[in-house]
Amino acid sequence: MTGAQRDDGATRTPTDTERAALLAAAHAARQRAYAPYSHFRVGAALLTSKGTIVGGCNVENISYGLTNCAERTAIFAARAAGQLGPPDEGPRIVAVAIVADSAEPPTPCGACRQVLAEFGRGCTVICANLRGDTLTIGLDELLPHAFGPW
Ligand code: THU
Repeated sequence: MTGAQRDDGATRTPTDTERAALLAAAHAARQRAYAPYSHFRVGAALLTSKGTIVGGCNVENISYGLTNCAERTAIFAARAAGQLGPPDEGPRIVAVAIVADSAEPPTPCGACRQVLAEFGRGCTVICANLRGDTLTIGLDELLPHAFGPW
């Protein structure tokens, strides 16, 4: 099925009001980042097709490889809270905002792109740094040919 044919809410473009709310939620989530090793604090916030916004932050660990990115924290929190369903059944990710103190707007890592695809194929990805530079891009463009049975 192509993005245009899907009817799971994932391809809806967020409104300006939703964008602003998502960015505010991502900034708020970033305040809760736990990044004592990299000192690179990241906040993320998801908008679901139910209209819910769920935030997440990066959570690092002394065993560095166990670190969880902000995007996946938000996705796992949303799923655990009953806000994301399986493909073609429950609510989907419409958009995600990501905020970090980087020179360029921070795009999600490869692992997070794949996990986003699980719950939000074709979603809108809004990347912003603290200077207010933004990049808005479709997940389909960030991760063409995602792994999956879709
Ligand atoms: N990080 C994220 O939270 N999201 C990304 O998409 C890339 C990286 C975090 C992981 C780690 O805590 C820190 O940024 C430095 O890599």
